[in-house]
Amino acid sequence: MTSSGAALVVEDLRISFNREGTPVAAVRGASFSVQPGESFGLVGPSGCGKSTVLRAIAGLQRDWAGRITVYGENLTSGARITGRLRRDIQMVFQDPYGSLHPRHRVGRILGEPLRVHGIENVDRRIAEVLSQVGLDPTMARRYPHELSGGQRQRVAIARALLLRPKVLLLDEPTSALDVSVQAEILNLLNDLKDAHGMTFILVSHDRDVIAHMCSRGARMEGGTIREVFDRSRLPAGAQFT
Ligand SMILES: Nc1ncnc2c1ncn2[C@@H]1O[C@H](COP(=O)(O)OP(=O)(O)OP(=O)(O)O)[C@@H](O)[C@H]1O
Ligand SMILES: [Mg+2]
Repeated sequence: MTSSGAALVVEDLRISFNREGTPVAAVRGASFSVQPGESFGLVGPSGCGKSTVLRAIAGLQRDWAGRITVYGENLTSGARITGRLRRDIQMVFQDPYGSLHPRHRVGRILGEPLRVHGIENVDRRIAEVLSQVGLDPTMARRYPHELSGGQRQRVAIARALLLRPKVLLLDEPTSALDVSVQAEILNLLNDLKDAHGMTFILVSHDRDVIAHMCSRGARMEGGTIREVFDRSRLPAGAQFT
């Protein structure tokens, strides 16, 4: 597999979890690569390892073997992601409620990553990113429970975008939302991707979402990649669930 110029290369990725003292393989030699600016879908039945692959790329799952390369830079298994890569790779989770601190106002939720990375003009950046995701800047004063599901997911997307990542990992970003809100968020993501030149890896169980968003994708099963497909050759619906 060639890695020249790729946004992401995953090669022979293997991840095991300990279950009652016995290692159980969740990802068994997964390989795929994604080009800059692509939206790459990751589909397959529940438990096949999709979130685990994304978590490893995001540095949340540190125990893995194989190779992960982001824009030519290798991640190191067992180590925290440091430097520029920490900003370049961001992840949006399925459940916007669970991923936002319930007792922090939106302004603080968005301000913290900026402060951690030593970025200035925090208030201006927060107002800017809120309007990018279609929220009024006054939302900064609200708590997550004072927002709708769609508004919360917009805040989660805003938080991921604040650091201007190159690679955005989206783990079922709209599956908790009403169909009409889903479409809004997906279109928002597409607009932001075009505006900022990001690369997306998108996990979804929804064939229509993959068809709407992705030019290519991979179908996982049992911890491996079974096929890489083009939008014109999407796998059958049953293989998404
Ligand atoms: N922290 C963990 N400890 C032990 N086992 C885990 C852990 N996380 C995931 N697993 C196991 O690894 C396998 C893959 O899980 P993963 O969450 O990646 O699946 P998935 O494809 O994202 O599924 P879904 O579509 O339901 O979200 C499953 O068998 C799961 O039980
Ligand atoms: Mg998952």
